[in-house]
Amino acid sequence: MKALAYEEAHALDAFAITLTEVAEPRLRDGDLLVEVRAIGINPGEASIRRTRSAEPGGRLVLGWEFAGVVAATGPAATGFAVGDRVMGTGDFTRDGSWAERVAVDHRVVAKIPDRLAFTDAASLPIGVLTAWESLFRDQDVLLPGVSRVLVVGGAGGVGSMATQLLKAMTPAFVISTASRPESREWATAMGADLVVDHRGDLAGQLRAAGIDHVDLVFSTSGTTGHLGAIVEVLRPFGHLASIDLAGPLDLGAVTGKSLSLHSEMVFSRIAAGSDVGSQGRILARAADDVAAGRLRPIVTTTLDGLTAETMKTAHTLAESGRTIGKTVIRVDR
Ligand SMILES: NC(=O)c1ccc[n+]([C@@H]2O[C@H](COP(=O)([O-])OP(=O)(O)OC[C@H]3O[C@@H](n4cnc5c(N)ncnc54)[C@H](OP(=O)(O)O)[C@@H]3O)[C@@H](O)[C@H]2O)c1
Repeated sequence: MKALAYEEAHALDAFAITLTEVAEPRLRDGDLLVEVRAIGINPGEASIRRTRSAEPGGRLVLGWEFAGVVAATGPAATGFAVGDRVMGTGDFTRDGSWAERVAVDHRVVAKIPDRLAFTDAASLPIGVLTAWESLFRDQDVLLPGVSRVLVVGGAGGVGSMATQLLKAMTPAFVISTASRPESREWATAMGADLVVDHRGDLAGQLRAAGIDHVDLVFSTSGTTGHLGAIVEVLRPFGHLASIDLAGPLDLGAVTGKSLSLHSEMVFSRIAAGSDVGSQGRILARAADDVAAGRLRPIVTTTLDGLTAETMKTAHTLAESGRTIGKTVIRVDR
């Protein structure tokens, strides 16, 4: 089959992902073989392309957000049949979905509603799972005492789903951040009760709106740079959940307000083999919510074809830091 693959970690201006003939995926007992119809693109995958190389003589196929059709089932892959339309993520230690077919653990897959386009479905899994686990941890409700939430990066792929999940599932007042007219408009469309600018004085903007503190900050972008402002707007014993914690963090600022710090890595369950099926259940619930109109897909850019050119364009958008919603690649059949 064909896949978009590369060997050495590389920068965008030396883009080296090419369409290559690779062996068919080998199914494990609990796997589904999925014919890929659409691929969601994430900045984390661009980051892996920049930093991860294949073993000598090998090649890497990235991509852990897809929608497609089940083409075969492993003997232990229950609940799915050939022909089912599905969406999911995968396991970042295995080959991903930038390919004609992908083998994926059935526990991180869910069926998609009949009338939902593959491109729409492919915009959901990473945002839904990352936002859900960040906001609700291993539960399906907010922590006690959390009724006002600030989502930093409210127009991005994860922030868009976080705002929608909060508004669909909780009575929380949701403040999102966005810095440009078009991203502000999108954050509002996602359901934010108030939008403030992360390039400005966060506490000042909240005070101007009559808000003296928030209970939870979900920070999706630039967390290290925003930390002082985040701590300023949180109440004592408030919560900071972040998905881009990297490098040194000033824990003094966090402990000064007795804050709880919540980290999230969307592949932590599959990596640890711990209640992996919870992710399939979260995605199934999201699929129901989309069918019922409580959640909406977040595709803003659709690129056509599994080609090196579309993938380079997608990486260029992902690395811009200005994505609104999600970029999706439609895979021809
Ligand atoms: N830990 C995990 O499991 C996990 C999972 C998924 C993603 N991630 C990571 O989470 C981050 C966000 O992912 P994503 O898919 O939501 O990204 P994305 O869609 O590329 O986010 C783009 C948005 O980020 C906003 N933004 C850019 N710089 C910002 C800053 N300094 N402060 C606040 N907002 C800023 C932009 O808003 P404006 O244009 O309005 O400025 C833009 O709308 C990435 O670093 C990604 O790798 C982690």
